[in-house]
Amino acid sequence: MKYAVVTGTSKGLGASIAKLLLEASVNVIGLARGENQELENADLPGKYKHYQVDLADMEQTEKTFENIISFMKKQPIESLQLVQNAALVTPIEQVGKQDAAKLTAHVHVNLLSPMVVTNLWLNAWRDSDFSLVIANVTSGAANRSVYGWNAYGSTKAGLDRYTNTVAVEQEKLQTGNKVFLFDPSIMDTDMQREIRSADPSQFIDVDQFKNYKTENKLRETDVVAKVLVDRLLDEESIQNGEYYSVKDILK
Ligand SMILES: NC(=O)c1ccc[n+]([C@@H]2O[C@H](COP(=O)([O-])OP(=O)(O)OC[C@H]3O[C@@H](n4cnc5c(N)ncnc54)[C@H](OP(=O)(O)O)[C@@H]3O)[C@@H](O)[C@H]2O)c1
Repeated sequence: MKYAVVTGTSKGLGASIAKLLLEASVNVIGLARGENQELENADLPGKYKHYQVDLADMEQTEKTFENIISFMKKQPIESLQLVQNAALVTPIEQVGKQDAAKLTAHVHVNLLSPMVVTNLWLNAWRDSDFSLVIANVTSGAANRSVYGWNAYGSTKAGLDRYTNTVAVEQEKLQTGNKVFLFDPSIMDTDMQREIRSADPSQFIDVDQFKNYKTENKLRETDVVAKVLVDRLLDEESIQNGEYYSVKDILK
């Protein structure tokens, strides 16, 4: 059977990715602090199982993934994919006015948790007879400096470097595992709502993002998720270490 573990499935892009995978008969294990009743009650070909976890808490994160791994070890696995999608854009604030506790939670969710989870994951499946696929969801903010997004730009840039480094290691080790980046571009989600609600003193480009909404420039998550899921379902076509952007597919 085909399995995918997807982080951040309570809403937004992660919920759409999970739904489309379930529709394609992939069994999905979803994670978030919140639940997703729609996915849990859905009558779709794949089965959905939810784990509630705060990915800012490393102890909880490790324990939850250890539980997922022991559950998965009992399943007949034909393919196993991991999509690390959960992230925060906040705190949006100029440096010098940041709150250390909020910065810590941000770095934990966006960067440390994918690092800790990837480490556990590669170790857990080292001697298995299938290859792994790991997709890490990034942002254009990894490659440009945006006033007020010092935390977000840094963690996404860190995630990009981390993903590329893991890809280099897996290539050299000839594991057959593939690790890649997916850039979803701008989507109509709660994350964009949080961006629009920032004060101009915290985020000077706020009007540009308000315009994205009023001018209908934000893509629906189902449309974006389909691009990633189409790729995941065609595992052969995935290149280890690739940067896969929705903007190159949907013009
Ligand atoms: N929206 C955009 O325009 C845009 C643009 C570029 C890149 N991206 C990237 O796309 C991905 C999805 O973004 P989105 O717009 O769908 O965001 P979203 O609507 O804010 O959803 C974020 C998801 O991450 C989960 N999450 C956040 N903090 C968590 C925590 N501490 N523990 C566990 N789960 C947590 C949330 O679940 P809970 O709150 O229930 O925990 C939720 O399911 C992110 O990686 C984001 O950086 C988004």
